[in-house]
Amino acid sequence: MRAFPDGFLWGAATSSYQIEGSPDADGKGPSIWDRFVGESGDTGDVACDHYRRWQEDVDLMAQLGLNAYRFSISWPRLFPSGRPPLEPRGLDHYARLIDALLEHGIEPVVTLYHWDLPAALEDEGGWRSRDTTARFAEYAAACFDAYGDRVRWWLTINEPWIVGLLGYLHGLHAPGYKGDVLGEVTVFHHLLLAHGLAAEALRDHVSAQAQLSITLNLHAVRAARETAADRDAVRRVDGLANRLFLDPLLRGRYPADVVEDTRGVTDWSFVREGDEQTIAAPLDLLGVNYYTPTLVAAWDGAGRRELADGHAPGRGTAWPGCEDVEFPAQPGRRTSMGWNIDAGGLRDILLRLHDEHPGLSLVVTENGAAFEDRVEAAGVVRDADRVHYLHEHLVALHDAIEVGVGVRGYFLWSLLDNFEWTYGYSKRFGIFYVDFSTQERVAKESARWYRDVVTSNAVEAPPP
Ligand code: FCB
Repeated sequence: MRAFPDGFLWGAATSSYQIEGSPDADGKGPSIWDRFVGESGDTGDVACDHYRRWQEDVDLMAQLGLNAYRFSISWPRLFPSGRPPLEPRGLDHYARLIDALLEHGIEPVVTLYHWDLPAALEDEGGWRSRDTTARFAEYAAACFDAYGDRVRWWLTINEPWIVGLLGYLHGLHAPGYKGDVLGEVTVFHHLLLAHGLAAEALRDHVSAQAQLSITLNLHAVRAARETAADRDAVRRVDGLANRLFLDPLLRGRYPADVVEDTRGVTDWSFVREGDEQTIAAPLDLLGVNYYTPTLVAAWDGAGRRELADGHAPGRGTAWPGCEDVEFPAQPGRRTSMGWNIDAGGLRDILLRLHDEHPGLSLVVTENGAAFEDRVEAAGVVRDADRVHYLHEHLVALHDAIEVGVGVRGYFLWSLLDNFEWTYGYSKRFGIFYVDFSTQERVAKESARWYRDVVTSNAVEAPPP
């Protein structure tokens, strides 16, 4: 058996829009996702009906023995118009959820922004507008005031990279802009600034016990070939997708090479005096989401191949400063998202963070996989592929911990099958199967397997 450290957080993760439904309940205002219908044609109007069934879902977590749960608060439930007044019914909903979790010995780990911006703020410019950062700080402060006596773990923003990339460049996520490269980069900065302002608000509002974090989907970037051109492609993709976030957060400045690479797009004048200092507010831990590695090559000009990372279908890359980089398909096993399965990428990311930022505490805030689960009679759902994926990744995580990387918890994506953004309900990441016609939840094999991991605080050495 490979044992994990005492007090390790074992959780599952979800996000508000992906599971809640009830878009108009209790005075909620519309979010940008309520307005956006992606390629699948599906919406989160009902999703897992979790807004009404949350008690049942807390019971599922308790059955698994989880000691933590990562969920997000829907900003427009608290601020229907994006600014005061505060909607007390929305506030009460999460207070009840938090209390129920605590009664079951489950630590609430709260994400403040998992992509459902109040639509009213989009009408004022959304994340392209600096003013939205002040609105976010106001909303964050309201959450700290309301729940700070009971919630210790706070994550400000989920995956700023994806917000900019899919929402402004590829048009695959709300608010659905395409080709707005300047908007994308501006949004990255404003999301980081919003994080920094929320960090200031946290220190003003709650006790020193609070653990502040942000979640990044860090890329394990590898070169396709051992050539100087491919190595430079790695530098640029790593710069844009990783260091552009890590450096201001942990070193207090944007990476000079990325600023230089993106000169054709922006002069970075949206970064004002003092912003980098604000963004670099001390972090108690850094959240890492990991699913798949990224293989890059310098484009040889001979025609572009499909992007292979599944997050960005299309041809070639419109990534600023990386226009001549391509993402060759990676051989090997894949999930039903088309994402390569390679737990070594998780280990690489954790080891790198440990090397470059010694002493930084980490938490895996998302990891998991979508597969074609086999539904058999009498509420039996087989998902051996998912068990295998999770096992490999937990072994990689354990390896990292063994060599001294400070990882404090692991959150499996996801507790329930849910609304998977662009893909709607066609991709299932849950360890509980959801029958979307009846809302019945059925434990998959992986749920039982995870219960054993959680209750023994260990993962078996050989694969299951
Ligand atoms: C991440 C998102 C999460 C989920 C997983 C599969 O990028 O944070 O909401 O969709 O991917």
